[in-house]
Amino acid sequence: MSQFEQTIKLHVDPARKVFKVPRSAFTSQAVFEAERDQIFSRCWLYLGHASEIVKPGAFVTRSVGGRNILFNRDADKQVNAFLNTCPHRGATVCRDRAGNAKSFQCFYHGWVFGSDGALKSQPGQESYCEDFVADGQANLPRVPRLEEYRGFWFVNFDAGAIPLEQYLGNAREYLDIVADHSEAGLEVVGGTQEYSIRANWKLLVENSIDGYHASTTHATYLDYLKGTAGSLAAVPLKGVGRDLGNGHAVIEYAAPWGRPIAQWIPAWGEEGKQDVERIMAGLTERFGAERAERIGLKNRNLLIFPNLVINDIMAVTVRTFYPLAPNYQHINAWALAPVDEHEWARKRRLENFLEFLGPGGFATPDDVEALQQCQAGYDNAREAAWNDISKGMGREVPSFDDEVQMRAFWTQWNKMLDASAS
Ligand code: FES
Ligand code: FE
Repeated sequence: MSQFEQTIKLHVDPARKVFKVPRSAFTSQAVFEAERDQIFSRCWLYLGHASEIVKPGAFVTRSVGGRNILFNRDADKQVNAFLNTCPHRGATVCRDRAGNAKSFQCFYHGWVFGSDGALKSQPGQESYCEDFVADGQANLPRVPRLEEYRGFWFVNFDAGAIPLEQYLGNAREYLDIVADHSEAGLEVVGGTQEYSIRANWKLLVENSIDGYHASTTHATYLDYLKGTAGSLAAVPLKGVGRDLGNGHAVIEYAAPWGRPIAQWIPAWGEEGKQDVERIMAGLTERFGAERAERIGLKNRNLLIFPNLVINDIMAVTVRTFYPLAPNYQHINAWALAPVDEHEWARKRRLENFLEFLGPGGFATPDDVEALQQCQAGYDNAREAAWNDISKGMGREVPSFDDEVQMRAFWTQWNKMLDASAS
């Protein structure tokens, strides 16, 4: 076995129901580089939501899989994803975070591209051959694959990748549940939460779908809710964890906090009660009682392998992250909300978005601290070689606070890196 294979080797013992992950997976430069080649260059990666580029000319730029991407809707209403690097000599073409533009001019030598990426003009055009643009090489380079599912747009840097829908597989069921919150559609509410953590990105994967840590790490939040009149419904924390295949996983559970879709808490008063009942009646009409209750009352933390997390909890947070080093990652998170929700609900939703998972909220600073402490352990105490991910292994219906979700992720992670090793 090569040294690299040893670095990524899982210890799985079904008889003893033990599953261990090597801590070298969090510290190795070779793993970090292999992840870029084998995972972030081959998997479908979340780019953005349709609501971010509604009008012709609307664009956003963001880093996806380590590449700077220009995501826009062109004058013909087509959605595009370009590598935001000038075909001339490489400068970043669009240096704004978001806006609306009929064309993009590279600031270095002044080449101008249409919103469809085609080169429209360049200074000193007469110095180039007549058919210079004919082969398309002078246009903004497109990301090889760009596909959408229910308003969620993904890119893939591997032209030969399987179609997005096939890749999403069983995870589609959960994206459908989120997308079905409103018949009128969902929108990303303006603004992005951005922060960095001095910890490996896979620690945040685990943490995002970890029902086990809530009562200890987030004791402060739970105490705060208990101490705030009317902020809890009489609903016990209870649910299941699921391996969805392809590395995707979810926990789905009932919880006592309020959800503007559609779990009322006394603090929302009569106005809130009537509105939540209206929303639930609408969901029941569209989907029947059982599915309506699942949409309205159940929480879910969904991982789309490798690095998209949708936390449909007291608000809906869409979160992606990307490693900049084995022990450092950058995170982006957006609030997703029904376009037609009432003012009170939007206000509550955004309070929740900030209060729990915001970078200055009750949860994220505590999670960040936990993740950085874990990373410090891996970096400093190399003699302690293994992480334990065994909880609930072999259980027919794993609980939301078991670890089947993480095993799903690690199994796929190992499979993808192992392919590169052989
Ligand atoms: Fe963009 Fe030269 S690098 S015009
Ligand atoms: Fe947490």
